[in-house]
Amino acid sequence: MESSSPDLEAILLVGGQGTRLRPLTLGTPKPLLPTAGVPFLAHQLAKARAYGVRRIVFATSYRASMFEPVFGDGSDFGLELVYITEETPLGTGGAIRNAGRALTCGPDDPVLVLNGDILSGHDIGAQVRLHLDRSAAVTLHLTEVDDPSRFGCVPTDDSGRVTAFLEKTPNPVTNRINAGCYVFTRSVIDSIPAGQVVSVERETFPGLIAEDRPVLAYIDRTYWLDVGTPAAYVQGSRDLVLGRLASPAMPGSPGEYLALPGAMVSPEAKVHGGTAVGARSVVEAGAGVVGSVLLDDCVIEAGATVVDSVIGNGARVCPGAVVRDAVIGDRAVVGPGNELQAGIRIWPGVELGECAVRYSSDI
Ligand code: GDD
Ligand code: MG
Repeated sequence: MESSSPDLEAILLVGGQGTRLRPLTLGTPKPLLPTAGVPFLAHQLAKARAYGVRRIVFATSYRASMFEPVFGDGSDFGLELVYITEETPLGTGGAIRNAGRALTCGPDDPVLVLNGDILSGHDIGAQVRLHLDRSAAVTLHLTEVDDPSRFGCVPTDDSGRVTAFLEKTPNPVTNRINAGCYVFTRSVIDSIPAGQVVSVERETFPGLIAEDRPVLAYIDRTYWLDVGTPAAYVQGSRDLVLGRLASPAMPGSPGEYLALPGAMVSPEAKVHGGTAVGARSVVEAGAGVVGSVLLDDCVIEAGATVVDSVIGNGARVCPGAVVRDAVIGDRAVVGPGNELQAGIRIWPGVELGECAVRYSSDI
């Protein structure tokens, strides 16, 4: 059951460069990438609002000026949004401290802090309640993954207290990881050193644990995804379109595909698996598109196949081409008969001639 906490303030960390998502993030910061038809952050904003958040401070850095034109003062979302920009990136902890200047709540109040690239089905209200009931300094949402070495590994004791925070350790001691959603007591944010680069994962959390401050775990294994890689970004969009994760920000009902205004999908094309078809994009007869993100104004021509991939704005996939697990940059052209797969990334504007790349075993 969802439960809300009245008038909570939040900080959203949105200043990272999104390097693992290049070339998609060369021009657009990760939190603004279209995901199931809306900028990624719209899903996080809608979820936070549903749990009683009314005011959100965006901690921006990379391409900072691009956020406000999209979300404005937040009134369209029933929120008050404030934008705070770091002149040079301050790291996660430094960004939280810097954004904390714009909070209005008192020193003992809880503040929600979110990584800006997370889709999660967990109950934020229950996490806040645990934090308040146990008078914690910080309460971390933890989830479980198969490969914890790519995340913050977080062991706990029997009472639910966090006993260590091991960021990206090659030898994880548990599958439990930091899921990137924290409740901080406001005074703890104010105690992070100001005006310097600080990692909340490598400095602030280990420091609080060493001082024996109450750092608690809110463990929840419902839907969770960090969309920071191309495969995960495509998966997140796909899961939202299919309705595997409900989001109040979805611009349509769940289904095999979502078509944005002006999109044209031929009745003789096969489009399914949670594909998002961007505004004015065209999928021609005989083309097949599965579980992919087609951004705006792109064309999948007759007989082309696109699987688990991102096709950039204005890009074109020509007849007979096969694109699998790939990222095709804006305005790029995949010429006829190419076979692209296994994590290939085509940079914006690149034009691959006919049959320039093939993976067939018969050549
Ligand atoms: N404002 C600002 N300034 N934001 C930043 C900065 C900065 O200098 N550096 C990173 N961020 C933001 C990113 O935009 C992102 O929303 C968030 O902080 C986390 O950064 P990522 O680059 O996505 O980190 P990660 O995915 O490798 O690891 C983090 O998330 C994992 C869960 O997905 C860590 O918090 C891990 O411990 C955690 O397991
Ligand atoms: Mg991340």
